[in-house]
Amino acid sequence: EKGTYPHFMLKEIDEQPFVIRNIIQKYQNEDGTVRLDDNIRQAMSEADRIYIIAAGTSYHAGLVGKQLIERIAERPVEVHIASEFLYNMPLLSENPLFIFISQSGETADLRGVLVEIKEKGYQALTITNVPGSTLSREADFTLHTYAGPEIAVASTKAYTAQMAVLTLLAVDTARARGIELPFDPLQELAIVANAMETLCGQKDQLEQIARDYLLTTPNCFFIGRAADYFVCLEGALKLKEISYIQAEGFAGGELKHGTIALIEDGTPVVAVATQAHVNLSIRGNVKEVAARGANPCIISMEGLDQEGDAFVLPSVHPMLSALATVIPLQLISYYAALHRGCDVDKPRNLAKSVTVE
Ligand code: M6R
Repeated sequence: EKGTYPHFMLKEIDEQPFVIRNIIQKYQNEDGTVRLDDNIRQAMSEADRIYIIAAGTSYHAGLVGKQLIERIAERPVEVHIASEFLYNMPLLSENPLFIFISQSGETADLRGVLVEIKEKGYQALTITNVPGSTLSREADFTLHTYAGPEIAVASTKAYTAQMAVLTLLAVDTARARGIELPFDPLQELAIVANAMETLCGQKDQLEQIARDYLLTTPNCFFIGRAADYFVCLEGALKLKEISYIQAEGFAGGELKHGTIALIEDGTPVVAVATQAHVNLSIRGNVKEVAARGANPCIISMEGLDQEGDAFVLPSVHPMLSALATVIPLQLISYYAALHRGCDVDKPRNLAKSVTVE
């Protein structure tokens, strides 16, 4: 039920702080440490390489997950689009572990890979919002994202929940391997949940950004570097699927290798700048597009913000920034779609779960 909300998408965006707090609770030990399944911990620590398989928004969560697992647990990770994996299969390591990330647990492209790798005798972990789903039943292990039913076709709370669970998975693996943690995960996730709440309270400001930049434009670019690049891919997917604006996410430095040719007078370019080590360079990229007539909209984070930024996020741990940064992008997409008269919850040509290959 969407209650007083006009759309499920808006309700589900607003639920994100509670989802993150719920995940913290579900995966917390009495002594305040992270608790996952012993068998999952063992499989993660023994694997010599982890292959994340996913589609769409869940693939974007996987990209962030790779960084988290590699940096926190020091295990090598590859992320693959499910529909391509079997055709462009990489040379597999000797003892791989497969992680399937799927909100619905029913995506056919993922199932195709799961069947194939089970036949080869490899182990699989499914991270899903629907524990009884096909991908959950057919994998060796399941981690539940506890986001509650997601009804809107555009995935929002499932994405942030997947990244939170991937954080805990990375942390638990690091502990099992005796690696010191770079941060207190439950405390930092709690800070993320608070930031999400603040962001959900800034709808008027984000609605205004959607009006200012996206009311009539045929296209829009999202640029970011480092961790911000992954969230730009997600921001672009969200915008295109519900507003039908042609939107693309790019690595800030890649734009000038071709795509910058598309920048015209007034083209909106949303630049995400939440990472200190690339702050100067992404702002350099903004200047490059602005010099060609683009209308830049900079979304930055407290401490890295500069005069003229369109929106400034509360500060969160840089490794977890995608969980917070995506919220303004989700809300901007929502309001762009709303004011362009689109069917927000049920965009054309799309189904909630894609059960054909
Ligand atoms: O249920 P899944 O997570 O496996 O679904 C994967 C994609 O189909 C899904 O994320 C899709 O991209 C969403 N509509 C994006 O908002």
